[in-house]
Amino acid sequence: MGDGDRRLTVNGSLRSVPANPPRSLLDVLRYDLGLTGTKYGCGEGRCGACTVLLDGVPVNACQIPVDEVGDRSITTVEGLASRGELNAVQQAFAELGAFQCGFCTPGMIVRATALLRDDPSPSETEIRAALNGNLCRCCGYPRIVRAVERASEIGRSGGGRP
Ligand code: FES
Ligand code: FES
Repeated sequence: MGDGDRRLTVNGSLRSVPANPPRSLLDVLRYDLGLTGTKYGCGEGRCGACTVLLDGVPVNACQIPVDEVGDRSITTVEGLASRGELNAVQQAFAELGAFQCGFCTPGMIVRATALLRDDPSPSETEIRAALNGNLCRCCGYPRIVRAVERASEIGRSGGGRP
Protein backbone atom coordinates (compact mmCIF):
# COMPACT_ATOMS: atom_id res chain seq x y z
CA MET A 1 0.00 0.00 0.00
CA GLY A 2 1.45 3.36 -1.05
CA ASP A 3 1.01 6.75 0.61
CA GLY A 4 -1.65 7.66 -1.92
CA ASP A 5 -3.85 4.67 -1.13
CA ARG A 6 -6.87 4.21 1.09
CA ARG A 7 -8.05 1.08 2.84
CA LEU A 8 -11.52 -0.30 2.53
CA THR A 9 -13.04 -3.35 4.19
CA VAL A 10 -14.90 -5.13 1.41
CA ASN A 11 -16.62 -8.48 1.87
CA GLY A 12 -14.52 -9.14 4.94
CA SER A 13 -11.16 -8.36 3.34
CA LEU A 14 -8.99 -5.29 3.67
CA ARG A 15 -8.49 -3.80 0.21
CA SER A 16 -6.24 -0.97 -0.91
CA VAL A 17 -7.40 1.47 -3.60
CA PRO A 18 -6.03 4.78 -4.92
CA ALA A 19 -7.11 7.73 -2.77
CA ASN A 20 -7.41 10.03 -5.76
CA PRO A 21 -9.23 11.23 -7.71
CA PRO A 22 -12.38 11.57 -5.56
CA ARG A 23 -14.95 9.06 -6.76
CA SER A 24 -18.10 7.29 -5.75
CA LEU A 25 -17.97 4.03 -3.86
CA LEU A 26 -19.68 2.44 -6.88
CA ASP A 27 -16.84 3.42 -9.22
CA VAL A 28 -14.23 2.10 -6.83
CA LEU A 29 -16.03 -1.22 -6.38
CA ARG A 30 -16.52 -1.76 -10.09
CA TYR A 31 -13.39 -0.31 -11.63
CA ASP A 32 -10.71 -0.67 -8.95
CA LEU A 33 -11.85 -3.88 -7.31
CA GLY A 34 -13.61 -5.59 -10.22
CA LEU A 35 -16.77 -6.19 -8.19
CA THR A 36 -19.09 -5.74 -11.14
CA GLY A 37 -22.09 -7.39 -9.50
CA THR A 38 -22.93 -3.91 -8.21
CA LYS A 39 -24.52 -2.20 -11.19
CA TYR A 40 -24.51 1.34 -12.55
CA GLY A 41 -28.09 2.19 -13.47
CA CYS A 42 -28.96 5.85 -13.10
CA GLY A 43 -26.01 7.26 -11.16
CA GLU A 44 -28.49 9.54 -9.40
CA GLY A 45 -29.72 7.51 -6.45
CA ARG A 46 -32.99 6.60 -8.11
CA CYS A 47 -32.78 2.98 -9.25
CA GLY A 48 -31.11 0.92 -6.52
CA ALA A 49 -29.02 -1.10 -9.00
CA CYS A 50 -25.92 -0.08 -7.04
CA THR A 51 -27.17 -1.17 -3.62
CA VAL A 52 -24.51 -2.38 -1.19
CA LEU A 53 -24.44 -2.73 2.59
CA LEU A 54 -22.45 -0.30 4.74
CA ASP A 55 -22.18 -1.82 8.20
CA GLY A 56 -25.25 -3.82 7.22
CA VAL A 57 -27.30 -0.81 6.09
CA PRO A 58 -28.37 -0.74 2.42
CA VAL A 59 -27.14 2.34 0.54
CA ASN A 60 -26.88 3.45 -3.06
CA ALA A 61 -23.16 3.21 -3.73
CA CYS A 62 -23.38 5.74 -6.57
CA GLN A 63 -24.29 8.38 -3.99
CA ILE A 64 -21.54 7.61 -1.47
CA PRO A 65 -18.20 9.40 -1.98
CA VAL A 66 -15.57 6.80 -1.20
CA ASP A 67 -13.94 9.43 1.05
CA GLU A 68 -16.90 9.08 3.41
CA VAL A 69 -16.82 5.31 3.85
CA GLY A 70 -14.10 5.33 6.51
CA ASP A 71 -13.75 2.04 8.34
CA ARG A 72 -17.31 0.90 7.78
CA SER A 73 -17.67 -2.60 6.43
CA ILE A 74 -18.83 -2.85 2.80
CA THR A 75 -20.77 -5.88 1.60
CA THR A 76 -21.52 -6.34 -2.09
CA VAL A 77 -23.60 -9.05 -3.72
CA GLU A 78 -20.39 -11.04 -4.19
CA GLY A 79 -19.99 -11.14 -0.41
CA LEU A 80 -23.38 -12.64 0.42
CA ALA A 81 -22.52 -16.24 -0.39
CA SER A 82 -20.33 -18.01 2.13
CA ARG A 83 -17.97 -20.87 1.22
CA GLY A 84 -19.86 -21.35 -2.02
CA GLU A 85 -23.25 -21.50 -0.30
CA LEU A 86 -25.81 -18.98 -1.54
CA ASN A 87 -27.74 -17.11 1.11
CA ALA A 88 -31.48 -17.64 1.41
CA VAL A 89 -32.36 -14.70 -0.85
CA GLN A 90 -29.98 -15.83 -3.57
CA GLN A 91 -31.34 -19.36 -3.32
CA ALA A 92 -34.91 -18.12 -3.62
CA PHE A 93 -34.22 -15.86 -6.62
CA ALA A 94 -32.54 -18.77 -8.40
CA GLU A 95 -35.26 -21.23 -7.44
CA LEU A 96 -38.07 -18.99 -8.69
CA GLY A 97 -36.19 -17.46 -11.63
CA ALA A 98 -36.98 -14.03 -10.22
CA PHE A 99 -35.23 -12.08 -12.97
CA GLN A 100 -35.41 -11.41 -16.68
CA CYS A 101 -32.38 -9.39 -17.84
CA GLY A 102 -30.98 -9.59 -14.30
CA PHE A 103 -29.68 -6.02 -14.18
CA CYS A 104 -31.66 -5.10 -11.07
CA THR A 105 -31.13 -8.48 -9.41
CA PRO A 106 -27.96 -7.83 -7.36
CA GLY A 107 -29.43 -4.65 -5.85
CA MET A 108 -32.72 -6.40 -5.14
CA ILE A 109 -30.93 -9.30 -3.47
CA VAL A 110 -28.72 -7.07 -1.33
CA ARG A 111 -31.67 -4.96 -0.18
CA ALA A 112 -33.85 -8.00 0.50
CA THR A 113 -31.03 -9.59 2.49
CA ALA A 114 -30.92 -6.52 4.74
CA LEU A 115 -34.71 -6.62 5.12
CA LEU A 116 -34.76 -10.26 6.20
CA ARG A 117 -31.94 -9.74 8.67
CA ASP A 118 -34.05 -7.05 10.36
CA ASP A 119 -37.40 -8.78 9.92
CA PRO A 120 -37.34 -12.51 9.09
CA SER A 121 -41.10 -12.57 8.34
CA PRO A 122 -42.07 -9.43 6.44
CA SER A 123 -45.52 -9.05 4.93
CA GLU A 124 -45.93 -8.49 1.21
CA THR A 125 -46.58 -4.82 1.93
CA GLU A 126 -43.37 -4.57 3.94
CA ILE A 127 -41.40 -6.30 1.18
CA ARG A 128 -42.77 -3.93 -1.44
CA ALA A 129 -41.96 -0.95 0.82
CA ALA A 130 -38.40 -2.18 1.41
CA LEU A 131 -37.82 -2.63 -2.34
CA ASN A 132 -39.47 0.66 -3.22
CA GLY A 133 -36.15 2.28 -4.20
CA ASN A 134 -35.09 -0.62 -6.39
CA LEU A 135 -36.43 -0.41 -9.92
CA CYS A 136 -36.88 -3.31 -12.33
CA ARG A 137 -37.02 -2.24 -15.95
CA CYS A 138 -38.43 -5.63 -16.87
CA CYS A 139 -41.30 -5.16 -14.42
CA GLY A 140 -40.65 -8.48 -12.73
CA TYR A 141 -41.98 -7.29 -9.38
CA PRO A 142 -44.50 -10.05 -8.63
CA ARG A 143 -41.89 -12.76 -8.94
CA ILE A 144 -39.30 -10.69 -7.06
CA VAL A 145 -41.70 -10.20 -4.16
CA ARG A 146 -42.54 -13.90 -4.24
CA ALA A 147 -38.82 -14.71 -4.12
CA VAL A 148 -38.37 -12.60 -1.00
CA GLU A 149 -41.32 -14.39 0.59
CA ARG A 150 -39.71 -17.70 -0.38
CA ALA A 151 -36.38 -16.55 1.11
CA SER A 152 -38.22 -15.79 4.32
CA GLU A 153 -39.62 -19.34 4.31
CA ILE A 154 -36.16 -20.80 3.67
CA GLY A 155 -34.70 -18.72 6.49
CA ARG A 156 -37.42 -19.69 8.96
CA SER A 157 -37.04 -23.36 8.10
CA GLY A 158 -33.31 -23.13 8.85
CA GLY A 159 -32.52 -23.88 5.22
CA GLY A 160 -30.30 -20.90 4.50
CA ARG A 161 -28.47 -17.94 5.92
CA PRO A 162 -30.18 -14.54 5.72
S1 FES B 1 -26.99 3.65 -10.03
FE1 FES B 1 -27.13 4.15 -7.94
S2 FES B 1 -29.23 4.44 -7.55
FE2 FES B 1 -29.12 4.10 -9.71
S1 FES C 1 -34.90 -8.22 -14.41
FE1 FES C 1 -34.39 -6.69 -15.88
S2 FES C 1 -34.27 -4.88 -14.70
FE2 FES C 1 -35.11 -6.32 -13.33
